[in-house]
Amino acid sequence: MLGGERIEGKVRVDAAKNAVLPILAAAILPDEDVTILDCPDISDVHAMAGILKKLGCHAIWENGRLTLKNGRLHNWEMPDELSKQIRSSIFLLGPILGKLRRATVTYPGGCEIGLRPIDLHLKGLRALGVKIVDEGGVLYCDGRDMHPGDVYLDYPSVGATENVMMAAALLPGDTVIHNAAREPEIEDLQRFMNAMGGSVQGAGTQVIRVRGVKKMHGISYAPIPDRIVAGTLLCAAAITGGRVQLANIRSEDLVAVQAKLTEMGCRMAREGEYLFLEAPKTLQACSLVQTQPHPGFPTDMQAQMMAVGCVARGTTVIVENVFENRFGHAADLNRMGANIRVAGRTAVVQGVEEMYGAHVSARDLRGGAALVLAALRARGETLIERIEYIDRGYAHLERTLCALGARIERINQVTEDDHVSAAAP
Ligand code: UD1
Repeated sequence: MLGGERIEGKVRVDAAKNAVLPILAAAILPDEDVTILDCPDISDVHAMAGILKKLGCHAIWENGRLTLKNGRLHNWEMPDELSKQIRSSIFLLGPILGKLRRATVTYPGGCEIGLRPIDLHLKGLRALGVKIVDEGGVLYCDGRDMHPGDVYLDYPSVGATENVMMAAALLPGDTVIHNAAREPEIEDLQRFMNAMGGSVQGAGTQVIRVRGVKKMHGISYAPIPDRIVAGTLLCAAAITGGRVQLANIRSEDLVAVQAKLTEMGCRMAREGEYLFLEAPKTLQACSLVQTQPHPGFPTDMQAQMMAVGCVARGTTVIVENVFENRFGHAADLNRMGANIRVAGRTAVVQGVEEMYGAHVSARDLRGGAALVLAALRARGETLIERIEYIDRGYAHLERTLCALGARIERINQVTEDDHVSAAAP
């Protein structure tokens, strides 16, 4: 990547990864086909489609639409390798149990941004009568005695809330989830489930009530736009002193991000279907960015906001409350000239006037996006490795940014072996 170009122009935001993944899991609940419109071409969706295929549901991509052929769902054992690849495979536990009353799953994988246990998912399912035996990391779940019930989540986990919603969808009676997560993607899952004939109320609040229905039916559905992709593009304009107009966005999902970018001196406005951002020449640090469950500042925007803070005048303090190990990008940003000190869950970012290109490596999805943002601003050339992390959640990010004026080239990954042979005399 060659830094120094202003990001300018109009762009349409895709459907949200974090909406599409649970929606794809819930899509196995009816016997009929389900089509997801505007499905983002990201590797996490491909991995999820791969898992669904192994379960017997063929997923067909056609012109940005993903159709799930449900008729042949028969397998309750989730494939080991694919499940380890994406954490969202755990979402399938609820709907498989709801439909087939048994499931086998390996502990899921995903970005290494903390311990990421699944105890809340399992506790929620146990409250619905599921018997779970853990044998060396493989979970054998028996749902023959499943029943509706009251589920209290010790923490408003997004995934656990969604999993319980889906597990309860076909259970006769009322299940109530207390201390539920309130993320917009949970509201979208409710909309999707109800469009398929389900009966879910309360998503977006801390109490969600699922009334089990006998049957659900196939539909075509367009998930909500990706607030994190939108936020990342706003940060791209902010860090380069540029201006963008984003179409297909829901401003109400971007309130916290918008507040912080405005504090930093960006002018933001809703103009018809567009959300507009114009950045000042010099950004001002915003004193505190504190991640919290929705409607607090999203942890998925923490890394990108840190990149912007790197070149803002003054000190930005960032507190990561959601994940315990989500500052992996700070070391690479420092390699690019930033001044960040990390102590536990707090990062103190002292703004610098200039950053410069370096050889860095993505360690997780959003941290990788933060490196891209820094590279847009940096003087000279940046080489980012392990971009497969970025591909998990951004569809061809380099194309989107190049269309807005960036200079980025995707090159083949250099392997360890290549390094060794390149270094050999
Ligand atoms: C989802 C999002 C992810 C986002 C996160 C928080 C998807 C596909 N992913 O992840 O992008 O960063 O919400 O907004 O929607 N926890 C437990 N036990 C559990 C479950 C979670 O201790 O059983 C902890 C986690 O380790 C973490 C916190 O709760 O510290 C939040 O996790 P959770 O809300 O569950 O996030 P995910 O659903 O994994």
